[in-house]
Amino acid sequence: MAIVGIETLVYSVDDFDTSTRFFEDYGLPLINRDDIHKVARFQLAEGSNVYIRKHDDPWFQNSKMVGNGVRECIWGVDTQESLQRLTDNLAKDHELKQDADGTIRFVTAFGQAIGLKVWTKQPVFSHPSLTNSPGRHQRINETVKWHRRAIPKSIQHVVWGYKDVNETLLFYRDRLNFRLVDLQIGSGVYIRADGATDHHNMFIADANNPALGFACEHAFHHANFGVESIDELMTGKNYMERRGWPKSTWGLGRHRISSGAFLYLHCPAGGEAEYGTDIDVLDDRWQPRVWEQFFGFHIYVHNLPEFVMHEIEWNMGFCSPDTLYPTGDTPGAAASAPVQELVSNS
Ligand SMILES: [Fe+2]
Repeated sequence: MAIVGIETLVYSVDDFDTSTRFFEDYGLPLINRDDIHKVARFQLAEGSNVYIRKHDDPWFQNSKMVGNGVRECIWGVDTQESLQRLTDNLAKDHELKQDADGTIRFVTAFGQAIGLKVWTKQPVFSHPSLTNSPGRHQRINETVKWHRRAIPKSIQHVVWGYKDVNETLLFYRDRLNFRLVDLQIGSGVYIRADGATDHHNMFIADANNPALGFACEHAFHHANFGVESIDELMTGKNYMERRGWPKSTWGLGRHRISSGAFLYLHCPAGGEAEYGTDIDVLDDRWQPRVWEQFFGFHIYVHNLPEFVMHEIEWNMGFCSPDTLYPTGDTPGAAASAPVQELVSNS
């Protein structure tokens, strides 16, 4: 019984033309564009899809998500038998509907629209340049690879804010078999689908934390698109700037949680579009960790944001897979429990 990754992200937008142009420049291969119904479809090398639809498109389910962004994620499931087991369980307390292509769709108790579909992820091939270092020569009489632009091959993760992080965590953990990977106090929790190997496929962000850009509502934050190297990521950054898109606020950085190198760009389809590369690969031997939020946020960032301008104490521990997210003392307050309160003795 395994969810293997993100099969489709469906953006709900107010500006179809600008959103579609953004993702063409961003490097997602455009498969078709219907200017009558305002539907655009992109498909990445792994076979995952990105759709752009207008807010009033009748395709959408009645979710609680506010604003532009991914209003529905369709998760890929390895087999029909796995899909049946998942939906037999969900049918106990959800109204399920089936699309013509077999996708099962529903809305959770906390108002998120979700789809499940049998999917065979296509293998992808990457060939980043080897690196040379003092005393370690891997690339001899060979130049680095020259990219013309970035062409993401995969969708690595997606992020929304939620009013109740634990309600969301328990649903994905207990009903869809996601694993807790890391817990970032004050920010949210990182979860991985049981059949996937990216550090996380989803981040459940704390919508009660205004520093994350939320207003206590279920809203989209960002999606991460996988490129093969920092060279490809930076070439994509320059390409987007030459095409007239705004510069990234933070520029190139590397998260400490996940080790992923990142470049966030403001996205007219909602939130941010993140070029990501060199992220940790995990399996079920991984032990979850609990992090002080600013320490976990970054190893380095090109343009240091104000919130990490101060010296940051190194603060991380390990926790059990069933650890819950510490909530604030008052409704609407971000959590602030110290890391040591959650560290497992096991
Ligand atoms: Fe991300």
